[in-house]
Amino acid sequence: MKKYTLGMIGLGTMGRNLLLNMADHGYAVTGYDKDPKMLQILEEVGKEHDLKGFASLEDFVQSLELPRRIVLLVPAGAIVDSVIAELSPILDKGDMIIDSGNSHYTDTTRRALALKDQDLHFFGMGISGGEEGARFGPSMMPGGDKKAYSAMKEVLESISAKVNGDPCVTYIGPGASGHFVKMVHNGIEYAMMQLLAEAYDIMKNGMGYQNEQIQAAFAKWNQGRLKSFLMEVTAEVFAFVDEKTGNLMIDMIKDEAKSKGTGKWTSQVSMDLSLPIPTINEAVSSRDVSKFKKLRVELAAAFPHQTSIPENTAELEVQLEEALYFAMISCYAQGLHLLWQASATYEYELNLQEIAQIWRGGCIIRAELLEDIYQAYSKEPALEHLFADKNIQDKIKSTLPSLRKIITLSIENGLPITAFASTLTYFDSLRTEKLPSNLIQAQRDFFGAHTFERTDADGIFHALWNPITL
Ligand code: 6PG
Repeated sequence: MKKYTLGMIGLGTMGRNLLLNMADHGYAVTGYDKDPKMLQILEEVGKEHDLKGFASLEDFVQSLELPRRIVLLVPAGAIVDSVIAELSPILDKGDMIIDSGNSHYTDTTRRALALKDQDLHFFGMGISGGEEGARFGPSMMPGGDKKAYSAMKEVLESISAKVNGDPCVTYIGPGASGHFVKMVHNGIEYAMMQLLAEAYDIMKNGMGYQNEQIQAAFAKWNQGRLKSFLMEVTAEVFAFVDEKTGNLMIDMIKDEAKSKGTGKWTSQVSMDLSLPIPTINEAVSSRDVSKFKKLRVELAAAFPHQTSIPENTAELEVQLEEALYFAMISCYAQGLHLLWQASATYEYELNLQEIAQIWRGGCIIRAELLEDIYQAYSKEPALEHLFADKNIQDKIKSTLPSLRKIITLSIENGLPITAFASTLTYFDSLRTEKLPSNLIQAQRDFFGAHTFERTDADGIFHALWNPITL
């Protein structure tokens, strides 16, 4: 019986496309899905390829070379556990399961430990790039046992996106680091998307632009230093016509954003690690605010607001590009700072230079800007924060005045620009030598005897504050 190099469980859009990508690169691959419809689609689209679909999990397992390499592309959560429960008893020692969905990193830690007891290698691998990426070259973030990774390295490198010949995949680190890094990738994705949405709002309601002008601005920015996948997608959105009405599709979509949770997880972890990522947090909260449509309609009527459109929109458009550039740098800076902290706390041994490198292509947050970020970490691999890099400092210094101007205009006009505003206040906090946090300490000590540290002596102190009588 013919043996196959790699197997895929879950033949939905992502699984099927990744399998076709592997087959394109000359690998003999096989797939399994409970749903016969998925097997039928695979058979149709894979006619020309060296691949086979199985309706029986046992036959699928038996078709694979040893040690087996099995990729799971099933919805994150309980389904991953049930697939593992069915699969692991029929595997052999040394086989490898690679969970490529957006699983929570704590689930990956738990699953890896449980499977280790059965001498099975469990990898958590984030994949980014959507349907198109899976088919023609995604960015991949695998984490787990390093020795086991060598059995997958060649396949992953060949199917990944490439930038200047470098594959957009690398061994991320031990444990659940692969899924952790993918989660933070998504947090950055949320922040970038929110900034682009706010730029749309500023152009529409602060500058009086029509959709065509907004489309032109996004398309133009995508020709320059803001060139990125998300900018390109955004420009395309503003050119897409709804067949049903003949209107632009953007005007036919409800203003209530959904999410699957990876952004929220990033914010939750940042709180656990006491590591601020305010723009990502605001992006998560803004999606949540958008869901309160009924309340928003009520409050819009209670607090009517007039915006005054300035005349110098050409100058404002230039400033908005600069503000966006600053803010996009900050999205990466916050996400990478979180990775820097997580690497130390969870012993993930993350190489931020390599992470910036594999994000340059294939993934949703790929952008021209990542080249500078990659260079910053190449110069200083232990860099704590991107804002400490001289080249990045030059870029944010030159665009900061525009960020302030755009925010001022937006605030005066009552535009909800939570991501832009938090970008600026985060920066202003970080570049402030003396924050008013001494008052927080005094208040805590006043009402709760929580103690404080002094500027002129080491140790812990408590003051006998004057009592307050209510
Ligand atoms: C990717 C994307 C992908 C998915 C997001 C969407 O990197 O390819 O991030 O994983 O599109 O999870 O997330 P939300 O549904 O939460 O917006």
